[in-house]
Amino acid sequence: MIILDTSEESLRKAGAALASGLLVALPTETVYGLGADAFNPLAVAKVFEAKARPSFDPLIVHIARMEDLSRVAASVPPLAERLALALWPGPLTIILPKRPEVPDIVTSGLDTVAVRFPSHPVARRIIELSGTAVAAPSANPFGYISPTKAEHVARTLGGKIDFLVDGGPCAVGVESTVIDATKEIPELLRPGGMPLERIREIVGEIAVPPRFHGSESGPMASPGQLSSHYAPRSALRLFEFSSLCDAGIFPPQGRGAALVFDGERAAKLELSGRFDAVFALSEKGEMTEAAAALFALLHNLDFLEFDWIYAEKVPDEGLGRAIKDRLFRASRK
Ligand code: TXA
Ligand code: MG
Repeated sequence: MIILDTSEESLRKAGAALASGLLVALPTETVYGLGADAFNPLAVAKVFEAKARPSFDPLIVHIARMEDLSRVAASVPPLAERLALALWPGPLTIILPKRPEVPDIVTSGLDTVAVRFPSHPVARRIIELSGTAVAAPSANPFGYISPTKAEHVARTLGGKIDFLVDGGPCAVGVESTVIDATKEIPELLRPGGMPLERIREIVGEIAVPPRFHGSESGPMASPGQLSSHYAPRSALRLFEFSSLCDAGIFPPQGRGAALVFDGERAAKLELSGRFDAVFALSEKGEMTEAAAALFALLHNLDFLEFDWIYAEKVPDEGLGRAIKDRLFRASRK
């Protein structure tokens, strides 16, 4: 694997590599993606192989100009057009009817395609220079923690890809919000970097499946529907903060860490002396900062080889929905 900087010359190399069927890991505003030419089924097959991703899990196709939407989507319902015009480029993926030219391997045989127009200038420039649309899942082995820094990609996929463009840490830190716009009422398929509140402002009603109705008091509904994902090797469990403070219920044997929302809570738990280490997602308790820090903290926690991690359930608002969803899925082994 060759590591590239973000000079124009390097981005040209990355673009040319994509056009010739090679795999390029690239920074986006959400997480690092593992890119391949979306119209080259052999290149896309290599993405599935590098990630050990099951073929039934479709990829997102990335474009860098609004005009390119018609190269991948057969039609754009009015509501999807409103979303695209208002929120692209940005951390939002829209499911649309697919054009026959998009290979089946990209969409796992579905007649729909997931499309995203990222805002990261490096991602945009590479896609532009490739002259094609870029199929890119997150650049991590299937089921493992998503990468928000180039070193995360190098450590876990280094031997399996051709180029890695190092654009520094990702600003948003959680993957794009995925909205199915083929339904009469658009449906949330994955909470992510574009807050649901913002999407509602544009389209009004959105269907939110019960599995995302996690409440402060109970576990998320139908956990069985969610496969394990984002999982560190340590056992991870989710708790309300009040339970973390309750000396009665744990800890189990071994070395344990706590992951809480802000610095004040971290200080409180540290005083209890029941955890070997306590980490805060955001010292000041800011949701955007917490989202940006989430995956890097999970990578670090994994590196430190704790036997167990107890994480706090963050509030269901703004990016909190995405953070809670990722931590919940990380807890499903
Ligand atoms: O922020 C992101 O979205 C990052 C960056 C690299 O753009 N990409 C990303 O890709 O998170 P990935 O493959 O890790 O997640 C794509 C999600 C999966 O949950 C997949 O099942 C869903 O999008 N998806 C893709 N195509 C779909 C389709 N046609 N219908 C429904 N869901 C689809
Ligand atoms: Mg992923």
